Amino acid sequence: MTSPDLPAELKAALDGKLRGFSRSDAAGRAAAISKNYREGGGSTTIRSETDALAYALARMPATYAAVTASVNALVESRPDFAPKTALDVGAGPGTATWAAAEVFPSLRDFTLLDANAALRTLALDLAHDSTRLRGIGYQLGEARAALAKADAADLVVASYMIGEIGDAEQSALAELLWQKTHDTLLVVEPGTPAGYARIIALRAHLIGLGAHVAVPCPHDSQCPLQAPDWCHFTQRLQRSRAHKQVKGAELPYEDEKFSYVALTRAAMEGRRRSRVLAQPAIGKVEVTAKLCTPEGLTFAKVPRRAKADYATARRWRWGDAVS
Ligand SMILES: C[S@@+](CC[C@H](N)C(=O)[O-])C[C@H]1O[C@@H](n2cnc3c(N)ncnc32)[C@H](O)[C@@H]1O
Repeated sequence: MTSPDLPAELKAALDGKLRGFSRSDAAGRAAAISKNYREGGGSTTIRSETDALAYALARMPATYAAVTASVNALVESRPDFAPKTALDVGAGPGTATWAAAEVFPSLRDFTLLDANAALRTLALDLAHDSTRLRGIGYQLGEARAALAKADAADLVVASYMIGEIGDAEQSALAELLWQKTHDTLLVVEPGTPAGYARIIALRAHLIGLGAHVAVPCPHDSQCPLQAPDWCHFTQRLQRSRAHKQVKGAELPYEDEKFSYVALTRAAMEGRRRSRVLAQPAIGKVEVTAKLCTPEGLTFAKVPRRAKADYATARRWRWGDAVS
């Protein structure tokens, strides 16, 4: 399992960029950017070098953690997957590319696409001294136009990006992402009901075009969850000093909630493992766990008297794949 915390090379590059910048300016910009996100404005206020750095310091650790957790789940279910090429759409500071490079040593060729010039400049600066990412190609442009010209890749990722596209354009973008996918498409969104709704719409649309779910669902059928419930996961990450300062936070960690789906060209083989959809309740008499199984939603109860099963179920964590 790859650690959800930023790799040392990326941390060092971010710290290097921060030298010469006022942390209170960066904190002010991060607060304004996050207010714009909460109000539905997306990344439109990220315009300058300071904005891009403030965004990266405040959000990159969490989006990196969410992408890494999703890719870790993918690797667990497809241990033989060894992509050579990656395409990161709405790449921003390059978060998903860093995560993919960390998880897949097989990756040799990285292409990033984004409409934001300040984030592109930052991404190239951060990757400049990296042993893995020095040669990345970064296309500046609107996603659909840039995607139409891009080469297909073994692994295509859109991380925290779909929500910035208007509802009406999301299905056209989903089709383009799928067209550019040789093997696997990973889409990660915030773990809110709205983020989940975007994931589930894209999932249904692309299954209709022949895609198969690799993770997190153990089936290609309709999602069994009913509103107000929604499928999401959580990943804890450590906050560095700079991260805390830019967010004005005290706690040394944060928990990022995310929803995701990885879709593949080939159907998954064999019986699929169930997914734990919430933190199991461990009681003295039994462990109760909410599971998405190949047959649908189940609340499994594992009694203490079934000693071996109970001992296993006690170790289950939200997001795990379990038999
Ligand atoms: C929330 S950021 C996520 C960045 C990065 N993927 C991550 O996970 O940290 C969303 C990114 O999508 C980009 N974006 C949004 N709409 C876009 C579009 N229509 N074309 C290209 N990029 C777009 C923004 O510029 C921004 O960099």
